[in-house]
Amino acid sequence: MATIEFKASVGQGLDAITLGWHEPKKKEEKGPYEPPKYNGKHSKELGTLIQLISASKHFSGKKNETSLLRFYPHLSCPNTLLVGLGATEHWNSERARQTGAAILLIQKKERLGRVAVLGDSIFSRTSEMDFPYYLQAFCEGYLLADYEYAELKKADPNAFRVGGLELVDIKEKKSLVQAVNKAQVIVEAVNFARFLGDKPGNHLTPTQLADQVSKMGKEQALNIQVLGRREIEKEKMGLLLGVAKGSAEEPKFIVIEHKGGKANEPPIALVGKGITFDSGGISLKPAVKMEDMKFDMMGAAAVAGIMQAVAKLKLPLNVLGLIAAAENMPGGRAQKPGDVARSLSGKTVEVINTDAEGRLILADALEYAQKHEPQAIIDFATLTGAVVDAIGTTACGIMGTHHELVARLRESSRVTGERVWELPLFEEFEEDLKSSVADIKNIGIREAGASKGGAFLKFFVSPKFPWAHCDIAGASYHRKDVNYHSQKFASGVMVRLMVHLLENWKRLKG
Ligand code: BES
Ligand code: MN
Ligand code: ZN
Repeated sequence: MATIEFKASVGQGLDAITLGWHEPKKKEEKGPYEPPKYNGKHSKELGTLIQLISASKHFSGKKNETSLLRFYPHLSCPNTLLVGLGATEHWNSERARQTGAAILLIQKKERLGRVAVLGDSIFSRTSEMDFPYYLQAFCEGYLLADYEYAELKKADPNAFRVGGLELVDIKEKKSLVQAVNKAQVIVEAVNFARFLGDKPGNHLTPTQLADQVSKMGKEQALNIQVLGRREIEKEKMGLLLGVAKGSAEEPKFIVIEHKGGKANEPPIALVGKGITFDSGGISLKPAVKMEDMKFDMMGAAAVAGIMQAVAKLKLPLNVLGLIAAAENMPGGRAQKPGDVARSLSGKTVEVINTDAEGRLILADALEYAQKHEPQAIIDFATLTGAVVDAIGTTACGIMGTHHELVARLRESSRVTGERVWELPLFEEFEEDLKSSVADIKNIGIREAGASKGGAFLKFFVSPKFPWAHCDIAGASYHRKDVNYHSQKFASGVMVRLMVHLLENWKRLKG
């Protein structure tokens, strides 16, 4: 991971010095060029630079705009790097996050090993009180943008790794050091989720997923228990078994425990969909983009990442992570449309479409969670293509039965910049899932597909437990909307949001 250090002054051997600039308020929409505003400390040296920028008209301080001035020295650095912060009135923590990412990306492109960043120019519009949280966001963006999945490629001898950055003009206060450390812990957790997601289906079978999670759990002193086919049969998780039937790979059910709270305190249960590859099964998917279905375990990856962060941050809570893992394949023994499977809860399901498999394995996992009498249950799943049609890839669709729990997801979304959008769970949707031969069927008519997925899951959750469902199908991979995610890789979405939610956890009322 790239390093981030505090420095009292600009050190030796740096490749560039970075200055942040705000976009001026335009007098008219398509008016003439206006130079950017520098709101950090001014100096004589800077006056010359400001004049040059104005004269060249090539940099205006737009958000995430960067310009590397090679051989233009400033404060004893050989090169000067300009980064746009956008308009002052739009400055917020998400802008800080993307500014961090913009710096890393230009460092990578221009092969700048180490750069200094003049903190007072970046954070001139950040209040003292907000500073730790904005600095955390800035560091998150910087570190997140460095991620690449390269383990299966021949190592390139000319490959360049970014060294890191030095924060100049920022006083090394305890709260700020903690902010940087927290960003590092959170990004490590997000990158673990991304790494699991980017592994191809033949490198991350349910067994290999369980091995990876177990290894992480050992390092973080989490309790991990992995149930194999035998134990899953003994537990009577008939829906998970049904989905796994068509595959040569054994399903796994992974239980991760963080016991940071009092012994008698009920846990917060996190449930993840871990389909390591979704071919659709007998209801086979079309070939186009089927390769993306290696990402169908990003819900599981989110749970693994969240548990890693929760353990590293030693949160004073009991958190139970549950992952249902299987491969959805067609095969001679595969589950067929029309088959009826019996869930752990005893409820029976008519499987109309074997491609609606996520809700099946989650139903068993949700039942398992309820056996632990949790104070809340939140599940994460790449559940439907319909959520992408409804709200795109920028946000996760959230649904829930408990107003306060959903409100907390939205509040943590606002703070962390991980967008969520609530979708309805109307009673009418459950009507559509009535089966003539079983207690429920796994699909209804096409309309409101994301909500139908939610409605199916709701059928398996007792109203006694506050529950929320996050459909992360759109937001999980190949993101184009923010510069700290890669268009080529997994995003690790929901890890940052959930760490914030759990850090601020209080018992729910009602
Ligand atoms: N894993 C898919 C959902 C998905 C689609 C994730 C696109 C990421 C991108 C899920 O198992 C699935 O196949 N859902 C079906 C449900 C349908 C059969 C009701 C879908 O969305 O088509
Ligand atoms: Mn599917
Ligand atoms: Zn799926």
